[in-house]
Amino acid sequence: MNHVRNFIRHLVSAVSGSSLYSPEHLQVVRLTQDAFANLQRVLEEKEDLELMVLDDELICDTVPIEGSMYLDRFIRMLSEKGIGHVRIGRQVEFPELQSLIRVLAGQGGSGAEISSSEHIRIGKVEIHASSTDEYGDAPNDPADALELWEVPDYEREVFVKLRECIQGNRKPSMPGINRVVRSFIRAFSRVSSPHRALSLLRALDEYTFTHSTNVCILNLAQATAMGVDGPSLHEIGVAGMLHDIGKLFVPEDILSKPGQLSDAERDIIKRHPVQGAHYLLDVPGVPKLAVVCAYEHHMKFDGTGYPARREGWRQNLCSHMTTISDCFDALRTTRVYRGAVDGAVVAEMIAEKAGTDFHPVLARNFLRILFDPHAGGTLRGSES
Ligand SMILES: [Fe+2]
Ligand SMILES: [Fe+2]
Repeated sequence: MNHVRNFIRHLVSAVSGSSLYSPEHLQVVRLTQDAFANLQRVLEEKEDLELMVLDDELICDTVPIEGSMYLDRFIRMLSEKGIGHVRIGRQVEFPELQSLIRVLAGQGGSGAEISSSEHIRIGKVEIHASSTDEYGDAPNDPADALELWEVPDYEREVFVKLRECIQGNRKPSMPGINRVVRSFIRAFSRVSSPHRALSLLRALDEYTFTHSTNVCILNLAQATAMGVDGPSLHEIGVAGMLHDIGKLFVPEDILSKPGQLSDAERDIIKRHPVQGAHYLLDVPGVPKLAVVCAYEHHMKFDGTGYPARREGWRQNLCSHMTTISDCFDALRTTRVYRGAVDGAVVAEMIAEKAGTDFHPVLARNFLRILFDPHAGGTLRGSES
């Protein structure tokens, strides 16, 4: 994260220099070169750098970056241009960074074109208004997705295998889950708003399996409405799918007990985030985000919840999303120990708990998706 901070510091200096002098000025060129060198250092470690503005926070690969003077200025620069999302690929070239700097410096008149280049993708994202997503590339091989009607059988098979692997102390493989998530993302790309995609939600069938699917779909709806796309969107879906994997370690009679749980039984259930994260850590191909999310999905925005966290722990953005999806789905579906709660009542509860249990911006985003059929961004592929 230090390299990212250094890159942003140099980028902000280059933008400031560029708004004072011409882009060809020696000083500006030198600052841009420094920014480019730092960017290359970041991209030595990862395929691409993904930055997103959420409220007043800058999120890098779904993790908030701690504030500094430069970060605040960078967030302001992006917000003033209506930019909510920037993705820079490893092959980025110097002139592409120069034109990003020109855009951020407001050069080229008030109507300065904000357009993506081959390796710098710019998304105009707004959580509170309709958004546009300009990313054109596809997440990992959508051709390998299933047709929607094929998903339930395939998915059931994947979860049965997962359960068998856990019971037999074996590691499962990831492609099954990836294929299911790809199918939902492809279905999402065909509808015009995340609200419509909610029709993919399932009624209760087998709780853990249906719930995992629903949390995946709700995560995808939230992330899509915020303009997230590509590999990050896929990982957020996978994280939703696997968030409760630790429940497969909890004896079935406790999970389906109709009456009150004893303290000991409640303690067993409360272990599922840690057990799930431990398990996923060793499964090849599982994104780190899914491990983090399995661990954090019962933590609350105000620092309560479980497992207990160290002072200063920053909960991942995807975990915040999953907490909302999780709560919504758990309440709206019928469980053995109580009836389903009406959707409007659940929404009211989410609104009430924004800022305590839930990330307030994400909670607002979620409620908009639920109630406004036109909420969120234009989904990739929906224009074509
Ligand atoms: Fe859970
Ligand atoms: Fe859950």
